[in-house]
Amino acid sequence: MGCRRFVRLSYRLRYMVLNTPSPIFFCAIALENMLVVNCFRKTFGGLVALDDVNIDIKKGLMTMLIGPNGSGKTTLINCITGFYKPARGRVWFEGKDITGWSPYKVYNEGLVRTFQIPQPFQNLTVLENMLTAYRGNPGESFIKALYRKAWISEEVKATEMAFEILELLDLHHMWDSPVTHLSGGQMKLVEAGRAIMSGAKMIVMDEPASGIYPKLAHEVFSQLTEMKKKLRVTFLIVEHRLELVLPYVDYVYAMSTGKIISEGKLKEVLSDPAVIDSYLGR
Ligand SMILES: Nc1ncnc2c1ncn2[C@@H]1O[C@H](COP(=O)(O)OP(=O)(O)O)[C@@H](O)[C@H]1O
Ligand SMILES: [Mg+2]
Repeated sequence: MGCRRFVRLSYRLRYMVLNTPSPIFFCAIALENMLVVNCFRKTFGGLVALDDVNIDIKKGLMTMLIGPNGSGKTTLINCITGFYKPARGRVWFEGKDITGWSPYKVYNEGLVRTFQIPQPFQNLTVLENMLTAYRGNPGESFIKALYRKAWISEEVKATEMAFEILELLDLHHMWDSPVTHLSGGQMKLVEAGRAIMSGAKMIVMDEPASGIYPKLAHEVFSQLTEMKKKLRVTFLIVEHRLELVLPYVDYVYAMSTGKIISEGKLKEVLSDPAVIDSYLGR
């Protein structure tokens, strides 16, 4: 082959390679998996609470797990966050196999179930409660606590972060109030805010609207949605009050008797006869 022909051919090949989107490009534009559960099974004696459960939670979305009481929702999130060990199956978080990890290790990875954070301190203000959840504050070390210089800049950073999150949650005007002055809905938001302070990348909440008036529950979900959009946090929320979650959901998994019986957009899932039957107890 002549030298010139070879050069032309190699340029053509380079052009083709550079102008053909690679598989990596397609992966980048597709939604990334944050959490993958594969073939989970959990039994309590003879009762099969989870039976071959598979789910993919996409990064930056609010995914809801719905289903009637006793369908296995809480058991599933207990297995994901390390509180229960599945009898079979695996779970990956950001590509890392976290199956069988202790709850504390899972939390350190940034997968936070809200009650894993210490309950709000009743005698502290809203801001102080946010600050106590901040992870790795050097002032917590006995030795470093004696040297102001060792922790002051981190303390300023934590305080700024707490104010930004409180503003996002529309709670900034209450920063100095005792946490006991907050409504039930506002407490749920503080819980989510504290999860962010602790470095959460994904927040798992079990029925955050329980015991809250529907109007306040809508406020909770709309603030959580703001959090999702602005901070790119991924949510997995268990809820059985379907009328509350309708406007906020990106993706839904429906469970019944330990199995995933339907998945997709909420409207599609709600019109699925299997889901209707499960709610009607047929
Ligand atoms: N710790 C446990 N010991 C025995 N049975 C349990 C335990 N936790 C859950 N179950 C049973 O597993 C099934 C699923 O329960 P659960 O996950 O709490 O459902 P959901 O959260 O959807 O209401 C139910 O039949 C429940 O009684
Ligand atoms: Mg439950």
